[in-house]
Amino acid sequence: MTSPHSLLHRLPVALLFLALATLGSTAVRAESGPDGMPGEKTFRIICQSCHLESLDLAAAGPDGDSALAAPPMDWLSTAIRMRQNNDEAEFVGHVVSYLRLPGLERSLLPGDVIARHGVMPPISEYGPDLTYDDLTAVASWIYGHYNYKKLLPQLQKHLQSRQGSSQ
Ligand code: HEC
Repeated sequence: MTSPHSLLHRLPVALLFLALATLGSTAVRAESGPDGMPGEKTFRIICQSCHLESLDLAAAGPDGDSALAAPPMDWLSTAIRMRQNNDEAEFVGHVVSYLRLPGLERSLLPGDVIARHGVMPPISEYGPDLTYDDLTAVASWIYGHYNYKKLLPQLQKHLQSRQGSSQ
């Protein structure tokens, strides 16, 4: 017999399924309030359905991210910051504009990344309600969330080992 206690116990599992079912639908409706969505919430609800928050590159090996839907966000953002001398305004500007109009010729990632994962779909397909401010907030959150100085040498090492593995 199901006791009230075990029902309560199962409730979080049911909620998790509900959350996963929402993530699985093609267009996730963002609950954008008057102030828009805080950046982290947008990341967790929308971006994380494709991008891992982080991946240990040393443990994953040179091709460890090939099977993933998209490059993990920690090293992807580090690669862009490396190209832009770690300038926050340039980073946010690029990310917002890329989310609206992604494309091979607009990407700042190393050349083989798109060959591995394909081009990102425009964010309007996944978060149709995201405003310009929401996109700016998520780009700023990504910038502030990672330790660039710590990640940069790890990424450089990874890119070198990747070159080595494709020769
Ligand atoms: C449907 C899967 C998917 C979703 C959802 C998604 N991305 Fe992506 N994203 C990708 C793939 C695949 C790439 C790698 C290819 C590319 O750069 O276009 C990518 C690349 C990127 C890049 C690299 C830009 C460049 O210069 O190449 C950024 C930044 C990015 N995503 C941010 C985000 C953010 C922020 C969100 C959430 C608001 C998000 N993505 C949601 C799949 C996704």
